Amino acid sequence: DKGNHRHFMVKEIHEQPEVVGHALAHYLDLARGEARLPEGLDFAKADRLAITACGTAYYAGFVAKYWFERLARLPVDIDIASEFRYREQPLSKDGITMVISQSGETADTLASLRYARSEGQRIAAVVNVRESTIAREADVVLPLLAGPEIGVASTKAFTAQLAVLAATAIGAGKARGVLSGTEEASLVRAFSEVPRLMHEALKLEPQIEALARELSKVRHCLYLGRGTSYPIALEGALKLKEISYIHAEGYAAGELKHGPIALIDEEMPVVVIAPHDRLFEKTVSNMQEVAARGGRIILITDPAGRDAAAIDTVETIVLPAMPAAVTPLVYAIPVQLLAYHTAVIMGTDVDQPRNLAKSVTVE
Ligand code: M6R
Repeated sequence: DKGNHRHFMVKEIHEQPEVVGHALAHYLDLARGEARLPEGLDFAKADRLAITACGTAYYAGFVAKYWFERLARLPVDIDIASEFRYREQPLSKDGITMVISQSGETADTLASLRYARSEGQRIAAVVNVRESTIAREADVVLPLLAGPEIGVASTKAFTAQLAVLAATAIGAGKARGVLSGTEEASLVRAFSEVPRLMHEALKLEPQIEALARELSKVRHCLYLGRGTSYPIALEGALKLKEISYIHAEGYAAGELKHGPIALIDEEMPVVVIAPHDRLFEKTVSNMQEVAARGGRIILITDPAGRDAAAIDTVETIVLPAMPAAVTPLVYAIPVQLLAYHTAVIMGTDVDQPRNLAKSVTVE
């Protein structure tokens, strides 16, 4: 039931504060300021974490790589499941493999799980569908508790995946002696603010819809970000191409001058995802390079970023200031809304985009 929403996708976008709040309440003890690690995952002893998934779930894993490396000092290999399953990579006996899948039925992700098992790895599965094949075959299941996701373009499953992965990374940081109790508590507090911050992000929908009107006229679009905003750029580009059929590419902002800058002209809008963090100044120089070539920029940032960017050809979507660790969950929302409204304006079938299936059970 879509309730009073026009599509399942936008209904699911609006459910995110609640869905993420629910996942966080399950994986974090907000009162004690602690992360609850699932039983059967010994991050203290693990020497490596391999994360594998497809599509949007892969981008959630890509964000988690930054979290696990920074908060838990645990080296992470992230790979697309269709590559992981065939590469015949050696996996150590003390390693953990984490597979991420909304449906729990994605063929390549399941095959990757089976490969990792054959290498003697401990398997954790982040899944939405509890009765799925991937959930049944994993050693440890981390449910998303997001409720059924109907829109083919994944939205609430993505942010729920991020919530579960963030909590797990915090728990791993504590277990590995990297985070002190105080640091753990302050991260837990930061994440407990995410549902409220997501509500603030959703309030920007009218402005985003107006920007979508412009975006619906273009044929190509570039998304840039650094740090955890890089996978959010990849996810933003995927969302736009899936439902609006506009050709979109996500790039690490630092790669701009290694190729994609050749594409920049007045007809190529660039969506820049850049909270005012320790990498912001570097992204500003990338924006200047785009502006100097007549490229139009949609900057998604916070008040400090808006003030510091000061470039003429910029449209700015301003989110509240927030701790760096939580930005991926909140910045996902404007990126989803931009894709959604662009597609609605273009008149495509948002919930059932052409050529796509909700669950990809063949390779
Ligand atoms: O069910 P899964 O999470 O394993 O699905 C993975 C991808 O097929 C999925 O995320 C796909 O990329 C979506 N259409 C993204 O919106």
